[in-house]
Amino acid sequence: MESRQVFPVPQAFGSRAHITAERYEALYRESVQDPEGFWSRQAKELLSWKEPWSKVLTWDFKGPTIRWFEGGKINVSENCLDRHLEHRGSKPAIIWEGNEPGETRTVSYRELHEQVCATAALLRSLGVRKGDRVAIYLPMIPEAAVAMLACARIGAIHTVVFAGFSAEALRDRINDCGCAVLFTANEGLRGPKAIPLKETADEALAECPSIRHVLVVRRTAATVAMTPGRDLWYDEALAALGGAGDSRPESVDAEDPLFILYTSGSTGKPKGVLHTTGGYLLQVTMTHRYVFDLREEDVYCCAADVGWVTGHSYVVYGPLSNGATTVMFESVPTYPDAGRYWEMVERHRISIFYTAPTAIRALAKEGDEFVTRHDRSSLRLLGTVGEPINPDAWLWYHHVVGEARCPIVDTWWQTETGGVLISPLPGATPTKPGSATKPLFGVQPVLVDDEGREISGNGVRGRLCIKFPWPGMMRTVYGDHERFRQTYFSMYPGLYFTGDGCRRDEDGYYWITGRVDDVLNVAGHRLGTAELESAIVRSGLVAEAAVVGIPHEIKGQGIGAFCVLRGDVAADASTTKGIVQAVREVISPIAAPDSIWFVSGLPKTRSGKVMRRILRKVGEGEYDSVGDVTTLADPSVVSEIIQAVRASRA
Ligand code: PRX
Repeated sequence: MESRQVFPVPQAFGSRAHITAERYEALYRESVQDPEGFWSRQAKELLSWKEPWSKVLTWDFKGPTIRWFEGGKINVSENCLDRHLEHRGSKPAIIWEGNEPGETRTVSYRELHEQVCATAALLRSLGVRKGDRVAIYLPMIPEAAVAMLACARIGAIHTVVFAGFSAEALRDRINDCGCAVLFTANEGLRGPKAIPLKETADEALAECPSIRHVLVVRRTAATVAMTPGRDLWYDEALAALGGAGDSRPESVDAEDPLFILYTSGSTGKPKGVLHTTGGYLLQVTMTHRYVFDLREEDVYCCAADVGWVTGHSYVVYGPLSNGATTVMFESVPTYPDAGRYWEMVERHRISIFYTAPTAIRALAKEGDEFVTRHDRSSLRLLGTVGEPINPDAWLWYHHVVGEARCPIVDTWWQTETGGVLISPLPGATPTKPGSATKPLFGVQPVLVDDEGREISGNGVRGRLCIKFPWPGMMRTVYGDHERFRQTYFSMYPGLYFTGDGCRRDEDGYYWITGRVDDVLNVAGHRLGTAELESAIVRSGLVAEAAVVGIPHEIKGQGIGAFCVLRGDVAADASTTKGIVQAVREVISPIAAPDSIWFVSGLPKTRSGKVMRRILRKVGEGEYDSVGDVTTLADPSVVSEIIQAVRASRA
């Protein structure tokens, strides 16, 4: 039904866009028939290289091995900064919108270049060298982008940790990749709350032997404990260096690592997704330019945090590589009220706005008044990312926010893919609410059935895989190449498996239906059921837990936890509180369960495997369609589970 509603390309867009419908068809065909020719042309056109590559692509999905632009030398910070100085030196690179409305800072390309150079020299003076790892645990302030680009300048590998993560999560990430330096701030601000970042970092660092120095950015006036010899105030350290030091861009191989970003999988601890330099930069530069149909005068705003891949690719690297003005937003969409985004759009004359469906749903609920009271005439394009967008939210975004003028690009991609892979191009693709529409250049999606057979034709559904490499794809799981192979390439040999379910409609449009593995997407945040369960057990209150995604009006998916308590623990409100607290401390407040049900046992097969299918059905409220329970060791637990969930929702 939904797929019948089609929104044509607005006339104004079609005629001026970088990519028109005809051009999309021609370029897509070329990109699939001659990927090496297509990508080398893009790489020459969009990036500036210190030395050309000797081989465009080496790949096999068995090993797996993926190498793009081998032998090519390139520096990401030069592409994002130096090459713009001549023509865009005084153009705003970053417009920072702080926590309080109107608290802003504009950083030109020249200023950003200076800050990045100074910080690169500072890192070198602290002994950081090419290939060393640097952790970044900062709020959404320009210094976060500066730190990332400074690492890129000297060839150090950054790992950004979302500032909402706990001490334990920070510690594990730092230790997994052995970071030498940590950037943090004395405090962060998020709406009405101050976040004690340095304090949390100190707690983490008690068990991080690899960290030699901590650079502390002064975000607020708060005083914090400083460990002599280890901790330095960032501003003082820069001043002490006085502009001296070596800030020359390192010559970096296209396949040298640029960053590691941790993300949740269906098993075990979060894995360090490793991205390399040349291919990644090309992917984000090209997609940012075409998906957002970028023009020189655009004021572009992606409201994501740099702690997630969206912040890496579409707040920092894509926009800056393209010489765009990127707005960095520190606060939350409901602070001080639900009009914050649109007030900001009005004040900065934002022309492209990119956010997550969960934010759109939360704001739509507050009523149109918060939107319509602000002037949105500067907007010309809207985007969404991170989870499926329900048609209602899409239509609200289109009609109310975009005044029915602005196309919406629903961009599908993942931490692993580096950049957007499936999305409309605003001057080329008619849109359908809820569909990510068509593959971008060089992307060859396939749907497979449970046995891994490719499902051809249209009007079909299956699991989404990709059958040919693209430049921005991850290269490995840091320190665990076997896990990389196992996770993405073993399920359907010869294909990269995304973990998503997907439908391809009669017009060949892709509709992502959500994860088909044990990964949840809670308010656009990716969480693994295994890590949630282990955090719950760490409360000491629970003997065994099973977590499933449950429908949630705003978050898209909420977290439902079935818990078998330890013998002496009471099934009461204080236990619930204790469990929630444990998850907040072990992972982050974003991972707090929405519903906790106490049960005497989990539905297990005779071999002891928890049958999640049953729990998922019950969590979704489908009490009458839990399916076959005869293979359970004790089928009677099912009625108890249903009763617990029913009672909690009565
Ligand atoms: O399930 C898909 C969903 O988010 C997953 C990737 O999450 P993460 O690595 O955190 O990256 C999020 C930002 C790129 C995907 O496997 N997802 C992402 N974008 C969409 C989406 N689901 C539907 N529609 C989208 N546009």
